[in-house]
Formats: sequence, structure tokens, C-alpha cells
Amino acid sequence: MAKDSNVPDSPPDLSVQLGPLRLKNPVMVASGTFGYGEEYAGFADPEKLGAIVVKGISLHPRAGNPPPRLVETPAGLINAIGLENVGLQNFISRKLPYLRDKKVPVIVNIFGNVLEEYADLASRLDEVPGIAALEINISCPNVKQGGMVFGTEPAMAASVVKAVRDSTTLPLITKLTPNVSRIGEIAKAVEEAGTDIISCINTVAAMAVDIFSRRPKLANIVGGLSGPAIKPIALRCTYEVVQQVKCPVIGIGGIMDALDAMEFFLVGAKAVQVGTANFVRPTATLDIIGGIERFLQVEGLSRLEDYIGTLDTRCVFPFAEEACELTDLG
Ligand SMILES: Cc1cc2nc3c(=O)[nH]c(=O)nc-3n(C[C@H](O)[C@H](O)[C@H](O)COP(=O)(O)O)c2cc1C
Repeated sequence: MAKDSNVPDSPPDLSVQLGPLRLKNPVMVASGTFGYGEEYAGFADPEKLGAIVVKGISLHPRAGNPPPRLVETPAGLINAIGLENVGLQNFISRKLPYLRDKKVPVIVNIFGNVLEEYADLASRLDEVPGIAALEINISCPNVKQGGMVFGTEPAMAASVVKAVRDSTTLPLITKLTPNVSRIGEIAKAVEEAGTDIISCINTVAAMAVDIFSRRPKLANIVGGLSGPAIKPIALRCTYEVVQQVKCPVIGIGGIMDALDAMEFFLVGAKAVQVGTANFVRPTATLDIIGGIERFLQVEGLSRLEDYIGTLDTRCVFPFAEEACELTDLG
């Protein structure tokens, strides 16, 4: 805690510029883990967040997969919700009005099964007031290409982004899947296709089985792993993507506290999204915002932007953080 004596009096500046998006702080809730905002109103004031990313929206309502759809694993959660959602029209008429009244940027996560559905969603949302940006979920199967996931091949990922780019003037965030061998190539392709921002990562393909009944634990058999178990994967993906693109990158995956968030900032993420932590502690995001502030004060920094991307790639041992007393940061 050598730097304690440098703690500045005024709170540090947490604001970040993500391409066309200016956020008062860098902490957002990840799609699918905070409903449409209202569900968490009693726990976490949405106006304190950097932004809200809503549950993924499709053109028409979807029931999702049959239960069981969630299973806990060591340090993680596997979900096979199957993108259940209220559909575009219900979102606009029943969910968006609540969020529009709040002083928080609303980011709408969209997905489709064919290119045309992504484009249609984007052009319809373009006319709707109260939306700060679209986040394109490309971790979905392309039914016209035998179910191959859009985000696993650079040309296909780029075609989704281009179709959406041509259909809206809203800022675009493209959310990458980690289930690829070269995430940097996908990142470059979606940047060239016109995304303003990249977010990474979505869940990691996973499975859980019951050895006595000899059955899968999820009705869908496979699902997506999230939570602390995926943080090192997410950190590596964020680092690799940051190396490959010029556009801002949002880090997602296993962020449970402010110290986790700082790791993503260190490798170059300009903002973070918090997902599974909301299920463990509904106030997690607010604690993380407070913890980032305290971390910067202890480090003697007045602006978060001065910490972002400052990783020195020479490794260190023993780890400095083990000698640090900062254990209660959100
Ligand atoms: C129950 C659940 C539902 C999710 N739904 C969506 C979704 O609709 N769209 C999307 O892009 N990501 C979705 N995700 C992925 C998260 O937004 C996030 O990328 C992932 O969980 C990793 O972050 P975490 O480890 O902080 O949870 C979902 C995750 C969970 C756990």
C-alpha cells in the first residue's frame, strides 16, 4: 500500500470514450444477466451503471430451450437458455419505456438466424428513440449455412456486421464468441465491416453430465459456460483482440469484483460487462464501480484512462498483488 499517501482528494474520473459512445463509468451489465433492467430495480439503481445491455432480442418472441437450462459447475455456470426473449415489438412497447425514463445509455443486444433478420432488427430499432447502441450477438447459428455459428468464420461474421451497418446509423458493438481458434482474425474482419466497438467474450461451449443416471444435466445437452471459470480465457481473448484492432474493446467474462475488472483494463479493455456476478450478488456492478474508484485512488491515478492498456509484458514474480492489502474491492 505504498501509494496510499498519494490518494487524491477528489474521486477519480471513470468516464470512458468508446468510439461514438461516452460513458460516465466503464461498468455495464452483460446481456441476459440483468433482464430488461426493471427486474433488478430493487437491488441496483440502473442510473449508476455505465450502460445497460438488455437481454438479446429477436424479431419474434422465443420460448427458449426446455428446462433444465442452468447448471452450476466449479467456479462457473452453464446455461442453455436458448435466447428466450419477448421479441422486438414487445420489447419496444413493454420493456423500453421503463429504461427510456432512466438516465442510463441503453444498449440493445440483437440476434437472428439469417442475415436478413439482423438487418431487419437494426433498421426497425434505428427509428426507435432511447437507444444508445446495438450490440450484435454473432454467437448464433446461421440456418442458411447448416447451422454454422456466424461468429466462427471471419467472412460470415463480417457479413452480419455489414448487413447491420447498412441498416442503421446507431453505434455498433459486435460481441465475439471465444469458440474459435483465431479470435484476432474475427475481430479484424468485423472492424473492417464497420463495427465501432468490439465486446468479448460470449460464453464458452461446455457440457455437464450426471454419471449415475448417465444423462446430461441440461435438456439441450450442451450450453455456454460463464463466471470465474472463464476469466483467464476472456482476458486472453481481450488481450489478443486489443492487439489486432484500433476500435475500442469491451472485456467480458468472469468479472466478479473490481480487481477482476482492473485486469481487463490493464490488457487494454476500455470498459467491461458484468454477467454471472449479477446472479451471485445483484449489487455486484455497483460494488465494482466503487472498487475501481478506490483502486485508482490507491494507485494515485486521477483518471481510469491513464491505467487502460498499460500492461508491461515482462512478467513479474513474486506477484505484487499478493503483497497488496486491497482485498475488499467490490
Ligand atoms: C443466463 C445467461 C443468459 C445470457 N444471454 C445472452 C444473450 O441473450 N445475448 C448475449 O449476447 N449474451 C448472453 N449471455 C452471455 C453474457 O452476456 C456474457 O457474455 C457471458 O455470460 C460471460 O460473462 P460472465 O462470465 O460475466 O457471465 C448470457 C449469459 C448467461 C449466463
